[in-house]
Amino acid sequence: MKQNKYDDNIFFNKYSNMERSKNGLNSAGEWHELKKMLPNFQGKRVLDLGCGFGWHCQFAKENGAKSIVGVDISQKMLSEAKNKAKSEYIQYICMPIEDIDFPVNSFDVVISSLVLHYIQSFEDILKKISKCLSNGGDFVFSVEHPIFTAKGLQDWYYDNNGNRLHWPVDQYFTEGIRKASFLGEEVIKYHKTLTTYLNSLIKSGFEITGIVEPEPAENLLYTVPGMMDELRRPMMLLVSARKK
Ligand SMILES: C[S@@+](CC[C@H](N)C(=O)[O-])C[C@H]1O[C@@H](n2cnc3c(N)ncnc32)[C@H](O)[C@@H]1O
Repeated sequence: MKQNKYDDNIFFNKYSNMERSKNGLNSAGEWHELKKMLPNFQGKRVLDLGCGFGWHCQFAKENGAKSIVGVDISQKMLSEAKNKAKSEYIQYICMPIEDIDFPVNSFDVVISSLVLHYIQSFEDILKKISKCLSNGGDFVFSVEHPIFTAKGLQDWYYDNNGNRLHWPVDQYFTEGIRKASFLGEEVIKYHKTLTTYLNSLIKSGFEITGIVEPEPAENLLYTVPGMMDELRRPMMLLVSARKK
């Protein structure tokens, strides 16, 4: 099931008001780690799967990418991207990333930030990425961490006074659909185990070059509400891989 939640008016407005949506990559808690995993973009052909507001497309362009294609299912996200990250070198395509079918060897770098947990099959999207990525090309992605997606509810357990007691992890080995609560709205996500993410890459002919479970950047701990609790459990998983 492909859900286009970001075109829902209420959800889109809430998402647009997040710090990372208003201020871009420097307000994203994982950016200080993700940017270290990105390859040199100079002269590269880049594909951004689930590009949202286009922050990563813009970063690739500013760092010398020759051409960038951003794909997203949401018209609303892409119309913002066309304002925020506009360039003759960036092309935006509105479509589900499950449906991409780029020719062999179309890109040197594929990036995807916080999108692949919306996709049912990691193996299927890997096949498509592998097809369009050049040999030796880089694939760098972030997803919500399996510890974060396992139970599905995506909220803390609280005591009677509303204090956060702990983060529940349950049904870890049962992969598949979850009805998560994100920004107070029901959003469909897909839980996958760490084994699935890493083994699928290996089986699909990728060499894993880096894995990071990022802690928030120190400056954000004191400026972004709730960020301090991000030190209590991993929320994201960042992986860099190279097509052999
Ligand atoms: C959390 S946002 C991340 C946006 C951007 N990558 C970033 O990091 O700022 C998730 C994005 O994935 C897009 N998305 C979700 N499911 C998708 C799908 N099946 N195909 C394409 N885009 C999808 C949403 O529309 C949204 O723009």
